[in-house]
Amino acid sequence: MKCHPLIAIRRLSVAVATLALTLTAAAQTNSPREHLSLDANWKFHLGDDWPDALRLDKAGASGGPAAEKFNDLTWRTLTLPHDWAIELPFDKNADGSHGFKPVGPGFPRNSIGWYRRTFELPASDSGKRIWLTFDGAFRDTTVWVNGWLIKRHEGGYYPFREDISDVVHFGGKNLVSVRVDATKFEGWFYEGAGIYRHVWLDKTGPVAIAPDGLFVRTEFENNVPVGRPEINVEARLLNAQTNAAKATVQCQVIAPDGAALGRFSESAKVKAQSWRLVKLESKISAPVLWSPESPKLYTLITRVQVAGKVVDQQQTEFGIRTVGFDPTNGFLLNGRHYELYGTCNHQDMAGVGAALPDALQYFRVAKLKEFGCNAVRTSHNPPTPEFLDACDHLGLLIMDESRLLGSDSENLRKWDDQIRRDRNHPCVAIWSVANEEFVVEDSPQGANVARTMQDYVHRLDPTRPVTFAAPEGDTFAGINGVIQVRGWNYHVGHDMDTYRAKHPAQPEVGTEQASTVGTRGIYTNDPVRGYVAAYDANAPSWATTTEKWWSYFADRPWLSGGFVWTGFDYRGEPTPYGWPCINSHFGILDTCGFPKDNFYYYQSWWTTNVVLHLLPHWNWPGMEGREIRVDALSNCKQVELFLNGQSLGRQTMSPNSKLSWQVKYAPGALRAKGFDAAGNVIAETQVETTGQPAAIRLEPDRSPINANGEDVSVFTVSAVDAQGHVVPVADNKINFSVAGAGKILGVGNGDPSCHEPDTYLPETPVRSLPVTGWRWQMAPVSSKGSLDPAYGPGFDDSAWNTLPAKPGDDSGYLVLHEGQTAIYRAHVNLTDADLTNNNVLVHFARIDDHGWVFVNNQRVGHSTDWQDQPAYDIQHALHAGDNTIAVGVINESGEGGLNPDVTIELLGQPIPAPWSRSLFNGLAQVIVQSTTDAGPITLTATADGLPAASVTVQTVPGGVRPSVP
Ligand code: GAL
Repeated sequence: MKCHPLIAIRRLSVAVATLALTLTAAAQTNSPREHLSLDANWKFHLGDDWPDALRLDKAGASGGPAAEKFNDLTWRTLTLPHDWAIELPFDKNADGSHGFKPVGPGFPRNSIGWYRRTFELPASDSGKRIWLTFDGAFRDTTVWVNGWLIKRHEGGYYPFREDISDVVHFGGKNLVSVRVDATKFEGWFYEGAGIYRHVWLDKTGPVAIAPDGLFVRTEFENNVPVGRPEINVEARLLNAQTNAAKATVQCQVIAPDGAALGRFSESAKVKAQSWRLVKLESKISAPVLWSPESPKLYTLITRVQVAGKVVDQQQTEFGIRTVGFDPTNGFLLNGRHYELYGTCNHQDMAGVGAALPDALQYFRVAKLKEFGCNAVRTSHNPPTPEFLDACDHLGLLIMDESRLLGSDSENLRKWDDQIRRDRNHPCVAIWSVANEEFVVEDSPQGANVARTMQDYVHRLDPTRPVTFAAPEGDTFAGINGVIQVRGWNYHVGHDMDTYRAKHPAQPEVGTEQASTVGTRGIYTNDPVRGYVAAYDANAPSWATTTEKWWSYFADRPWLSGGFVWTGFDYRGEPTPYGWPCINSHFGILDTCGFPKDNFYYYQSWWTTNVVLHLLPHWNWPGMEGREIRVDALSNCKQVELFLNGQSLGRQTMSPNSKLSWQVKYAPGALRAKGFDAAGNVIAETQVETTGQPAAIRLEPDRSPINANGEDVSVFTVSAVDAQGHVVPVADNKINFSVAGAGKILGVGNGDPSCHEPDTYLPETPVRSLPVTGWRWQMAPVSSKGSLDPAYGPGFDDSAWNTLPAKPGDDSGYLVLHEGQTAIYRAHVNLTDADLTNNNVLVHFARIDDHGWVFVNNQRVGHSTDWQDQPAYDIQHALHAGDNTIAVGVINESGEGGLNPDVTIELLGQPIPAPWSRSLFNGLAQVIVQSTTDAGPITLTATADGLPAASVTVQTVPGGVRPSVP
């Protein structure tokens, strides 16, 4: 895995801060390796206006935005990660399983996006290898560098990478053009669209460790952590030189407390233009074990030397722990039974869709851990690597799943990439070859393919077992018969016991369970609005309630625990309803990470905290005297319930269950006391009838955050009554603005039927002035674009030909024949006020074939492609009064000329986006992101009838990722 600054500045312990210092010192060896972010400063255009851009006849022949000469001045500038699907409005004609966003089949206009990014490489980089890596994009991606087609990648979840050293300009400007085609779905859930993960540029010397070419693992005898583990390192060395290199690989381990442990090394000759695997081993004394409860990380520093000179150096975090599955004792972590309190999750979140800044990965991992979750299944695709970083650091085990079952070379290449990329992460405990492959799973071919994928894992990663998320019951035919660990998707009941009786030697795990549905803060089913009561009473036919699956698994340790479908609500799959519902109801947390009531059930039985939670809320005007079901979710031995001071009885809790009362509603306070076995009160809680909203409350999850342009503070927004109690039914619309060193990234409220935008784009007011009265004359035009009096303001063109203002069809302006050249002139009158605009552009519909554009005798642009619609920023060349615009045109072939559809565009100050979000059952969320300027960020919230509220978070300098200029 990669080590990057964001990790270094996380809230880690003092010991880790010491470690960072040690590592920095150790890193000062002038290794040529640089790992640089390429996330900032992309230009983006939605829509494929260049269907013929891809040309396969000649190298470098692709056109449109793929070509270097393309003019993208009018495109939007943005920073990755970026998901354009989240920016589109909901559409009830769009695919519901994908969250009703108008992208994909049936929406060609929104399904293709283009990105362009220039970057500089100094001349001193010449001789280095330059790698371009995409962590993932949705979905089919074509990449050009400096006009060279370098990659066509299919698939929305796998990383892809290319060595671009041959086609870059050292000592100059370079261009990456990317066409992303999201026309085809992959999953049956929200998948986003665009470059929604990071992009990197890596530079190395000609002899270097290959990308993802380092594997570090520790092993104890018998897989039980006793004594000193062996540490095995495999470094795949690349030699791009034309002569062989004798390389020495030297490793040093830094312990979690920063102590530098011994060094070990190995030398090997790597043939010219070849690669070689160098294997090293040593022992580690007094190992400190990694676990979700104590996620202690070691760092391996690997240095490669040739002729006494350091030619590469890499830091790799790893953890020391053992994992295994046993048919009797279930999952074993560090040699002991360890119940998997898991959740399955998709990758999207409210406010940002699939494009999460790294800080939100940490936010989500921390949320899961709050209710005792200790494991995540990355359903149904490889995760973004930064999610795994967060799991390593904060402590969560991972079931790392492939997207698709397949042993064809393309699928195995992707599986290979996934395993090599993820195998150093201590969080990864098991691989999953696939999920619910209904068509093939029971067939002999399904078994063959799964076996091939499993064998592949064992070759690349001998430390972890393999499973398949199987939807069948007592079925051994096909994949279940060959897979190491039998996975169970659903089927709680006798099937599991019968299967075990028949296959006692096969370990088992609950790969996907529950699928319980419920909406945060809702206590009656409402099919019209698309809400499901949160009493743990609803589950689709294949699924179960929370209590049912968990009490079954808790009694059977051989099942290893399991993974709830799901930890977080996600967009799409709005089961059991359809429109207007746009997201799922399966989550223990909603799409923002606000807990639903089931959160407290799991917290009761998955943590050692004392938990006592009552549901529902107690605001039921009109229900006076009628019975309402009240549940206590708790791990106390007994719970007593009181309404307005009167006891409603004490009940005894059975393990893994909950308690219920029928209570005649009266407004006031519903109170509970929790008792231990000796009858002592160990917990108390209360829900109260609240008044009307009287104020807005804003609570950031973190302050200060890092002024690195990436970090976020996640604000919880609520409406409180005059006593300061959150009003659990409030639905006020809240408006937001931000001042200082930050911006709003997204908003959400967890409402599965809310169609308000998650994100707002600032708008730039544009005033267009047509440029009319074009005159032209055949004239020589210098192919160097040199000045000519005929381009200047004082020139008399009254005797020249006129051009019709706007030809009815494209051919009206095609007055030049092959080889002819002409000059075109027009005037535009501007006022002083016009020139105070932010930018003034001139925009051409077509210049066919070559054109040099002059404004008041200054050359402002050069157009080289007749298919472009070029635009130039001309503000610097303008003055108040009459301005002359002149274009010299060379028509190379066919008919050509200047299309007189030319406009001046006056771009005003961007209007701040009108951010707002309604509260859903009292809560909403605002994600605020830092800029790279340190300083306060103030979020202000206003709503009709409520006083405005403002809260400031601070940002501190540092943590800016090294990036490409
Ligand atoms: C499963 C499937 C999941 C999700 C879930 C909903 O069968 O694996 O992706 O669709 O059903 O209950």
